[in-house]
Amino acid sequence: MTKFVKIAVVAAFLVSSTFAAEYTIKFSHVVSPNTPKGKAANFFAKRVKELTNGRVEVKVFPNSQLYTDKAVMKALKIGNVQMAVPSFSKFTGLVPQLQLFDLPFLFKDVNHLHAVMDGPVGQKLKDMVTKRGFVALNYWDNGFKQLSTNKKPLVWPSDAKGQKFRIMSSKVLEAQFKAVGANPQVLPFSEVYSALQQGVVDGGENPLSNFYTKKFYEVQKSLTLSNHGYLGYLVVMSKRFWDKFPADLKPKIIQAMNEATVYERKEAASLEGVFLSKIEAYAKKTGKLKIIRLTPKQREAWRKVMVTIYPQFYGVIGEKLIKAAQK
Ligand code: SIN
Repeated sequence: MTKFVKIAVVAAFLVSSTFAAEYTIKFSHVVSPNTPKGKAANFFAKRVKELTNGRVEVKVFPNSQLYTDKAVMKALKIGNVQMAVPSFSKFTGLVPQLQLFDLPFLFKDVNHLHAVMDGPVGQKLKDMVTKRGFVALNYWDNGFKQLSTNKKPLVWPSDAKGQKFRIMSSKVLEAQFKAVGANPQVLPFSEVYSALQQGVVDGGENPLSNFYTKKFYEVQKSLTLSNHGYLGYLVVMSKRFWDKFPADLKPKIIQAMNEATVYERKEAASLEGVFLSKIEAYAKKTGKLKIIRLTPKQREAWRKVMVTIYPQFYGVIGEKLIKAAQK
């Protein structure tokens, strides 16, 4: 390296590390930084900084530090925060069709799910979100949901009768629990641990990453590996912010988002087994958590009852959309 090149490299480093970024994106989410979503939000922030040479800084706020998912939609609209990644259920008030993803037993496996997200159905849903004044970016994964409770362990659907379950704000999830005779109650994610601890609710439904990273296992007596429904996310950006964002930087943000999406989905797939092992180790060590693996016959019994709710949502979500997703 010549002396001149060395000076130029040092100067470039000083410029990028000394000066404040020209643009700041506040990125709010509600889960722990060590979940697939949390890790991908941090990955995105790092890539945006690299790709824009420090001109854009993404500040990630995990664990509902800034906003709950309900409040974040309004914050995006008025420009108090620029990005968020709420679960599908949290869009119910804006785009009720996104409750499609909440329908129990809709997806056979992750490949089926991704075909829906990344195909015409997923695009149609994104267009609906765009029409409501948000920039709909990419779909991120969490995982299939598992049931848990402090009351009667959940083996057959009838075991859920009379039990109180925390749900996200989705009419589909409300109907799903009512179908098995349970009492659903909407609560923000940040209140779930204390609600379980204090007996405000008896149980809930969570992917393993949320169940483990939020330590719900500490306040639940049994976990049923039901894989009965899916929890995923749509990354959204404030339209107000994006419309004024410089055109030359937009492709960098999109590139960082696409890379983060690949990374996020890989993390979601690989962390699933890691979290299960950790929960199993806790159960073995303490003897305080019973893990139930459903037989095909038991799981089929849950499926049969829960899918009876589909016709209730033909009007809201659209029968065509549901059938297209099933195919
Ligand atoms: C999340 O994964 O973002 C939280 C989902 C929930 O509210 O249960």
